[in-house]
Amino acid sequence: MPHPATTVAVSAALVFGLAACQQVRTPGFERFNAASAPATSVNPGINDAYLAEDLDPEAWQQRFEVETREIYDARYEIVRALHLQPGMAIADVGAGTGLFLEHFNAAVGPRGQVYALDIAPAFVDHMNQRAHEEQLDSVVALLCSEDSIDLPPNSINLAFICDVYHHFEYPQASMASIYEALRPNGQVVVIDFERIPGVSRQWVLDHVRADKATFTAEIEDAGFELVEEVEIDRFRESYFLRFRKAPERRR
Ligand SMILES: C[S@@+](CC[C@H](N)C(=O)[O-])C[C@H]1O[C@@H](n2cnc3c(N)ncnc32)[C@H](O)[C@@H]1O
Repeated sequence: MPHPATTVAVSAALVFGLAACQQVRTPGFERFNAASAPATSVNPGINDAYLAEDLDPEAWQQRFEVETREIYDARYEIVRALHLQPGMAIADVGAGTGLFLEHFNAAVGPRGQVYALDIAPAFVDHMNQRAHEEQLDSVVALLCSEDSIDLPPNSINLAFICDVYHHFEYPQASMASIYEALRPNGQVVVIDFERIPGVSRQWVLDHVRADKATFTAEIEDAGFELVEEVEIDRFRESYFLRFRKAPERRR
C-alpha cells in the first residue's frame, strides 16, 4: 500500500498537470501530440525519386521549370494571388528546385524571410547555391523532415504548399508543425491537382491519392479554416486554396 501522503501528492500532481494541459489547447495541439506517436505513411514510396542518392537537381529543374508545366506557366498569377508584403516571413514547403524563390525574395524584400524547405538534401543544396548566385538575400534553404517542417513556433506568416500536399506521407503531422510555425492569422496556400475520376488524366488518378474535398477536410481537421478558392486563369487541372490558422480555442 502506498503511504497516504504519497497518494495525495500524486493525485494533486495529476490534477494540476491535467488542468495546465487543458487550459489552452489549440486545434493543432492534438495533431502535434498525435505526431509523436508512431505514424503510418499515407502513401509509402511517393518521394522515392526525390530521396534517391543520385538525385540530379539540374535535371529536375528542367522538368519543373518549363512552360508546359501548368504551375510554371501560371507563376506570375500565383505570386500575385499570394498578396505578399515586404517584411513577411514565408515557408515554401517542398520548394523543390526553387522555382518561386526569385519572386518571393523580391516580394518580401530585405526585411523579409523566405524559408525554402525540402526533404531532399540535394534540392536544399541546389537552392542555397541558387540563392547565392542570384543574390536572393532573403532566401535560406533548409532541410526539413518528412513529418515536420522543423521551423520554430510563430516564425512565419504564410506556408506555401505547391504541388506538395499529395507528397506528404504524414499529412497530419506536417500540418501540425505548420500550425505551430504560423503566427496568429497566418495563412496556408495549397495548390494541387484536381482529381476527378472520368475527367483527370490517368497519371493524376494514379499519382494523387485524394481529391480536393478530402484534402480540404484533412487541412481543416488540422486546425485551419478555408478562406477561399482562388481562380487562376491559366489553371486547367490545378486548384488554389487559401486557408487561415483558426484562432486558439480555450477549453
Ligand atoms: C512535385 S515537387 C514540387 C516542387 C515545387 N513546390 C514546385 O512546385 O516546383 C514535390 C516536392 O515536395 C518535396 N516533399 C515531399 N514531401 C515533403 C515533406 N513532407 N516536407 C517537405 N517537402 C516535401 C519533395 O522532395 C519535392 O521537392
